[in-house]
Amino acid sequence: MMAGSNPLGHGRIAKADSAAIAEAVAAVRAGDVVAIPTETVYGLAADASNAAAVANIYRTKGRPDFNPLIVHVPDHAAAEQLAQFDERAAMLAFRFWPGPLTLVLPLQPDAPVARAVTAGLPTIALRCPAHPVMQAALRQSGLFLAAPSANRSGGISPTRAEHVARSFGDSMPLILDAGPCSAGLESTIVAVREHGWQLLRPGPVTAAEIEGLLGEPPLPVTEAKVEAPGQLASHYAPSKPVRLNVKKPAPGEWHIGFGKIEGDQNLSPDGDFAEAAARLFDALHTADASDRAAIAIAPIPDEGIGVAINDRLRRAAA
Ligand code: TXA
Ligand code: MG
Repeated sequence: MMAGSNPLGHGRIAKADSAAIAEAVAAVRAGDVVAIPTETVYGLAADASNAAAVANIYRTKGRPDFNPLIVHVPDHAAAEQLAQFDERAAMLAFRFWPGPLTLVLPLQPDAPVARAVTAGLPTIALRCPAHPVMQAALRQSGLFLAAPSANRSGGISPTRAEHVARSFGDSMPLILDAGPCSAGLESTIVAVREHGWQLLRPGPVTAAEIEGLLGEPPLPVTEAKVEAPGQLASHYAPSKPVRLNVKKPAPGEWHIGFGKIEGDQNLSPDGDFAEAAARLFDALHTADASDRAAIAIAPIPDEGIGVAINDRLRRAAA
């Protein structure tokens, strides 16, 4: 692997062509961790059935082991090996997979996943991604791939291969590069419970879309029981102080704009939420790497995907 490392001392970034995908498949089969793009963010992928490989994910990410991982599946049929789908879960999978939705469902008793994947919970988080590179990795490996976002625990999620390289350096042997992620925010996480459903993490699929399909509003999520630490108050955090709802930045602040508030960098001059979501983490990485001491962000309306953007921004500022 060293031979392939680049002279900057970063993990090796390889354009995600068929040769690089084959190399990544060989690596995950051998129990290694590799970075693979999805349409939401880049993931740190490893064989979900291999306890040592899963331990390697936690170690690489510096993640507390009570925080369970999402398992990626090639399709709904394969997902049935891992979780029990009732009628509502099947409807959600039919409507939103492949795509940026993760379902938390009862774990199949004989599911072929290492215990650490679910951190001992009786449920499992499953996602069927649409990205062709992650799809190819799943199908060619024939494995279920556990993959958290490819950032150090608590840091900003990666939407470009360079973000992954910057946060992991040489500890990441291979990063498949397929350019910037189209959605740019982590998947929406929905838990299907016996008597209703919960939104554990807002994301590209909105709560209104889920409610429209299931015909009932979400059950409240009790803050005391943190099941999805993506929900911890401080998460996605840059290394600098972050101020929200700022129309006019103070001296020394890097200003991230939206719509008519121009800023040093604008998430979407037209005020388009999907475009802003796709650019958000890259803007935070850029702001963090700038020569300014602090970061200020323009107000973003709490509508549609704006809800998920504001969720991530509140945690970045906490
Ligand atoms: O878009 C995404 O979801 C990306 C890409 C790579 O797929 N993955 C991602 O993974 O964001 P991660 O590990 O950064 O966030 C997964 C979240 C965590 O907050 C975790 O606590 C929660 O999912 N989670 C996993 N299993 C769970 C379970 N059984 N019950 C509740 N929450 C769970
Ligand atoms: Mg994450």
